Amino acid sequence: MALSANGNGMDLPKLLLVEDDVSIALLLSSELKRRGLDVVSAKSGAEAVGKLAAEPFDVVATDLRLGDMDGLDVLAAARKSQPEAAGIVITGHGSITNAVSAIKAGAYDYLTKPVEIDELHLVIQKALEHRGLVREVNRLREEVKDKFSFEGIVYTGPALARVLDLVRKVAATEATVLIQGESGTGKELIARAIHEKSPRRAGSFVAINCGALPEGLLESELFGHVRGSFTGAERNKRGLFEEAGGGTLFLDEISETTPALQVKLLRALQEGEIRRVGDNHPIKVSVRIVAATNKDLAKLSREGKFREDLYYRLKVFPVSLPPLRERVDDILPLSEHFLRKAAKKIGRAPLRLSPRAAAALKAYSWPGNVRELEHAMERIMILASGPTIASEDLPPEIQLPPEEEAPAPPQGSTLEELEREHILKVLRDCGNKQADAAKKLGIARNTLWRKLKELGLAPIKKSP
Ligand SMILES: Nc1ncnc2c1ncn2[C@@H]1O[C@H](COP(=O)(O)OP(=O)(O)OP(=O)(O)O)[C@@H](O)[C@H]1O
Ligand SMILES: [Mg+2]
Repeated sequence: MALSANGNGMDLPKLLLVEDDVSIALLLSSELKRRGLDVVSAKSGAEAVGKLAAEPFDVVATDLRLGDMDGLDVLAAARKSQPEAAGIVITGHGSITNAVSAIKAGAYDYLTKPVEIDELHLVIQKALEHRGLVREVNRLREEVKDKFSFEGIVYTGPALARVLDLVRKVAATEATVLIQGESGTGKELIARAIHEKSPRRAGSFVAINCGALPEGLLESELFGHVRGSFTGAERNKRGLFEEAGGGTLFLDEISETTPALQVKLLRALQEGEIRRVGDNHPIKVSVRIVAATNKDLAKLSREGKFREDLYYRLKVFPVSLPPLRERVDDILPLSEHFLRKAAKKIGRAPLRLSPRAAAALKAYSWPGNVRELEHAMERIMILASGPTIASEDLPPEIQLPPEEEAPAPPQGSTLEELEREHILKVLRDCGNKQADAAKKLGIARNTLWRKLKELGLAPIKKSP
């Protein structure tokens, strides 16, 4: 399989070039553009950080010493918002310490000034190749993970992991399970997983929404009826308790049942037998009951709105699904899962989320939970022009408020900056006499001279 550097095929590889020297930046970017790269320039660290938040890059090449920031801090920001982007550091000093810290900060490679355009291009090519491989590995890893994920349930955070631990344990038993969770949190998915992992998996999984039918119809759906039991009952009919025999019956929205029906459900659960409507003859049934509700059933039963005995009978094994806003770790993996799913459905390459779009998805409260997220991703897959999903492509309620000005990095925050300031101050105090300054600083004179050179404070011979 051919590797495309940025995972989206036809687009040019995208480079963020961070260089505060405008003439160097212009020269490098025009040369690199000629060599087929899509180059975006940033003149300062703050500008680079802003660009990194707004759009995805394949490679970030940064000058080590910028007016407002350290190039390594730019790389750190890139690693945080775009872990797959490859970093390249351009150092004016070529000292081994700088190279080591660059690599330690996660740079793929480094170059020393003056930059040879061919050399820079080669390093970028290598970084792209490396990045393509990393992406490919990540993609394959995702595919494998999807294949082996628990019954198609996507998660990374601990909340769902705990739920699935419970599911594994309870699946092996015959215990009645009550799944509670807000609308769209995945209650039915969990109910199916319990069935699939249970010894009853060869039997059928039958689901009914108790809130969708009037009492009479629901009763005959659940328990069946005999011919002539009511107008329209032209023949005997098996109910879902019988249909699900040997399998699992999922009673969704259990809170919506009437008191009369609750009595009948209780009897079915206690005695393991049902009566068809219009028939007094009991029929033995073997079903595993999983019930679900998005209401607070404990509260309803306290208030007398749901039979307490049935409530206790159902909640032998309670499973509670946290709302999506309480498992922020799951939002991006789920988004990517749904983007891939929607892409497959419409035969399109999956889109990538821009860092800002990803941040918006994580910050949103998702009142409709996973179902809302799934629908949002489907809509985006259809509407976005791609190849990346910008914040503006998201539904308005999900978008973040307009970006605030990036805060200026604090002055003198790195050790090197502090050192530089201190040396300058001492030099000033000593009337620029290096011998005196060295004495005051407690270092040898040539150490001071070397430091001044490293910090760019000594007259440096121009490179050819
Ligand atoms: N962890 C998950 N991984 C993958 N898909 C999920 C996950 N959770 C939910 N979904 C998907 O989200 C959608 C909603 O889930 P489901 O129907 O199970 O929710 P629900 O709690 O039953 O919702 P409602 O209360 O509205 O009936 C489904 O398409 C489901 O497949
Ligand atoms: Mg449901």
